[in-house]
Amino acid sequence: MDHYLVTGGAGFIGSHLTEELIRRGHQVRVADNLSTGKRANLDHVSGVEFLEGDLADLDFAHRAVRGCDYVLHQAAIPSVPRSVKDPIASNRANVDGTLNVLIASRDAGVKRLVFAGSSSAYGNTPTLPKHEDMPSSPLSPYALQKVVGEQYLQMFTRLYGLETVSIRYFNVFGPRQDPSSPYSGVISAFASALIENRSPRIYGDGEQTRDFTYVANVVDGVLRATEAPRASGEVINVATGGRISLNELFRTMRDLVGASVEPTYEESRTGDVRDSQADITKARTILNYEPIVSFEEGLRRTVEWYRTAGATASA
Ligand code: UD1
Repeated sequence: MDHYLVTGGAGFIGSHLTEELIRRGHQVRVADNLSTGKRANLDHVSGVEFLEGDLADLDFAHRAVRGCDYVLHQAAIPSVPRSVKDPIASNRANVDGTLNVLIASRDAGVKRLVFAGSSSAYGNTPTLPKHEDMPSSPLSPYALQKVVGEQYLQMFTRLYGLETVSIRYFNVFGPRQDPSSPYSGVISAFASALIENRSPRIYGDGEQTRDFTYVANVVDGVLRATEAPRASGEVINVATGGRISLNELFRTMRDLVGASVEPTYEESRTGDVRDSQADITKARTILNYEPIVSFEEGLRRTVEWYRTAGATASA
């Protein structure tokens, strides 16, 4: 039994990681400031040690990491538009917090730290799919902060010998993604609108595309990254490898829900990437990763969740 710290473990992705680690019999501590996460996301998981605090505070980061073998650093303010609106708050969470977790992990002799990177690092690349050797080209403070995090990890590996891996997430979706904020991920926003027969908002012409990834795939990829022998010092895409436009996503979800509304088109968001699709060759090679839940199946499970548990969770 290993001891894991999941930072941001009360958030959407962090709570899924925590649940799976407990299911596998590990000891798990969650550190979260509950700025976007919720205690309720862990209500169904027993045996988790919960520490409330802010990782931008180095003392708290030291307390959080102490005694842990592995650190899964998920804590972040995970929003492109929010970072455009308030780059300082977003930098504090995404860069200061990450540096503190690295320092605390180095000092505690952690075996490996796995970081939640982002596909937004690529910006608008001339070709698709996007592979890890492409230069990063951040279009928003959020994207830049995630690139800085990755580079800090690689530097800590070189300078101090701390084993680190950055996993680049591509538009992760699934149960427990919070639909209630203006910065919510698009699938959660569409699901809650359609279930209530409200008109979802589409920013821009809706022809932008994304490699939407069901959360179970990310959990699997991250947990593989804690152990894979050749992963340290690497940046690795974890996604499904496909892409779908927002207009198509809207139609698919409307059919699934059985709603009859039309979307409302609004001006596109600044900092928005046009197309996003991952090359997952590196994840296949280094992590022996293969998507375990397809986009379609993930979407079915997600819509079902928003219909049942989601209705009460977001009430
Ligand atoms: C970006 C990152 C992703 C990161 C996420 C965190 C890219 C390619 N991906 O996702 O890695 O984890 O930020 O937030 O940069 N939209 C609507 N209606 C809505 C909400 C969103 O049309 O109600 C549009 C957005 O303008 C965007 C797309 O849907 O074009 C996806 O938006 P969102 O779910 O917020 O994620 P990204 O910004 O793509």
